[in-house]
This record gives sequence, C-alpha cells and structure tokens, in this order.
Amino acid sequence: MNTHSDALQATIDALVQRGKGLLAADESGPTIAKRFKTVGVESTEENRRAWRSLLLGTPGLGEFVSGVILYEETLGQCADDGEPLSSLAARQGIVPGIKVDKGKISLAHAPGDEITQGLDGLAERLGRYKEQGARFAKWRAVYNISSTLPSPLAIEANAESLARYAAICQEAGLVPIVEPEVLMDGEHSIERCAQVTDAVLHEVFHALHRHSIVLEHMLLKPSMVVAGKEHVPVNVTEAASQTVTVLNRTVPPAVAGIFFLSGGQTPEEATAHLDAINRIGRRPWPLSFSYGRALQEPPLKAWRGQAANVSEAQRALLKRARLNAAAAQARYSTEDESTS
Ligand code: 13P
Repeated sequence: MNTHSDALQATIDALVQRGKGLLAADESGPTIAKRFKTVGVESTEENRRAWRSLLLGTPGLGEFVSGVILYEETLGQCADDGEPLSSLAARQGIVPGIKVDKGKISLAHAPGDEITQGLDGLAERLGRYKEQGARFAKWRAVYNISSTLPSPLAIEANAESLARYAAICQEAGLVPIVEPEVLMDGEHSIERCAQVTDAVLHEVFHALHRHSIVLEHMLLKPSMVVAGKEHVPVNVTEAASQTVTVLNRTVPPAVAGIFFLSGGQTPEEATAHLDAINRIGRRPWPLSFSYGRALQEPPLKAWRGQAANVSEAQRALLKRARLNAAAAQARYSTEDESTS
C-alpha cells in the first residue's frame, strides 16, 4: 500500500467535484510569450506575475475551478501583497498543481514524431514542488497526426514516459495528471482522429498497468475527438459521440476523472463540446475541463497588460469558468453566452 494513499485520495476528492474543472495556467516561457504577443504584452517576469496574479485572484473563481496547473516559475511568485500565488489559489479553495515535463523534442529515428522529456531528476524536483505547495502534477505527451503519424514507436515511447512519470508522482504523494494530446493541426478527418486517439489511449493504459499506477489516484487529460483544423468542421454532437465512444473503449472506469484540454478550440466550441459530451448517458467517470486557452483567451484580450483592465479581465475569466462548469453538468446553452 502506498504510504501516501490517504493524501492522494484527499487531493482527488478536492479536485474532482461536481460542476468544477481545472484552470491550466502552466504555459512555458516560449508559449506564454506567444500568447502575450497576441495582445501586445512583453513576456517579462513581472508581466507573467501580474497576469497569473490576476487569474488566481479572480473573486469567486473557486466556485467553478477546483485546481490550477502552474508553471515552475509561478510557484515561487507572490501577489502584490506578498502572498505566494500558490497560497492565494489555496485560499480560494483551488488546489495548486505543477507542470513537471520539460517539453517536447523530436523523437530520434521517427521523423515527424515527438517525445516529451523531463524524467531525469523528477523525484527530487517533486520533493521541492511539494514543499512549495503543489499537490498534483501534469505531464503532456504530444502526437502529431497525418495519414502515417504517429508511428507505433511514438505511441509506445510516449506511453512509457507518461507511465514512468505517473509512477514517480504517486510514489512522491502527488496526483498525476496524464495528458496525451492528439493535435488538431492538419486536414485529417474525425475518423482518423478517433483511430489515433484509440491507439494512443490503449497504449497509455497498457503502460500505466505495467507501472502499477493506481487508477483511482490519477486523472486523465485527453484531447477530444474532433476533425483537423483544416478539415471541414464536424458538428458538436458527432464530435461528442465519437469522443465518448473512444473513451468508453479505452479508459477503465476506475480512473478518477477525465478533464479535457481545449487544444486550440475557440472558447465557445470547447464549452459546447464539453456540454454535448456530458449529455451522453453511458460513461463511468466525471467529465470536466482542464482548459488553458479556452479559459484564458477572453480575459487576456480584456487585460492587454493594463492594470486598469484587471476587473474586466477577471469578469471575463469568471464567465468562461461558470459556463464550463455548467457544461460539465450538461446545463449549458449557447444563449448563456450573452450573459455577462
Ligand atoms: P489548452 O486547453 O490550451 O490546450 O491547454 C491545456 C494544457 O494544459 C496544454 O498542456
């Protein structure tokens, strides 16, 4: 029995709450710079601190968000009043977690495929993150999709890394979020996305079993089954149906919860998909959100780096969080978009 079993269960109970999801605010240096550039903000440490203080300080956010995924830098940052950002989150009832992978590189001998790195020294890093208040972790594996990608080698190698990461987390007393992301880039059909997602998840759970992961003490963060961005769009009900079919075929019921990534969907699309998914009956796990862009885009556009816009940006974040929380309970309607 894992000596951390009670702690892991307590974290799961805090994260998996009906009508709540996760805020992914764990963009790496290059990614946050890209997001800031869209609104003309320079990515300085001070601007990143100001932005993430704004997000976590949003009054009432804890009503709809049970956990936040932070980037390493943020764990060491404080709000204007000197309170560490992880405590600010915890005070709102939001469990702080941390992205622990070190990003993706090309997978050798597999042109077009990628592999996520960061396993070396992970156990030691987790010890430090825990002292700084983190209670869960996240590792993202990325799968490029085409008629030939991802290769079986990439599917296997990424599954193995995800499982090794998850084992190290559980041994350290942190709940692992396992994130296999099949990218939306490309002109592939929804059927091709379903085929790849099925193969990826099948291999991920095989590897998790090999590494004795306690499924009750982990969360899955998958991409939805959708058509490629350059393909003609598929309607929301069809995407929801294909997503649930693939998950039912590959994810054991013991998994504590499934929290989707938004992966480049618009905020409205991501909410509509989550709602449609939750309107489908046959599924054993809570299905909620762990969105980055789909939660942050509207507040980022409202903020534009100006202190005077903080309240408006916080209102925009709260609105998206509230609508996604409704979607997680199959209670969203597109008419809700016109509410403030
Ligand atoms: P998106 O919702 O923007 O895909 O971000 C989620 C995430 O954590 C990606 O690793």
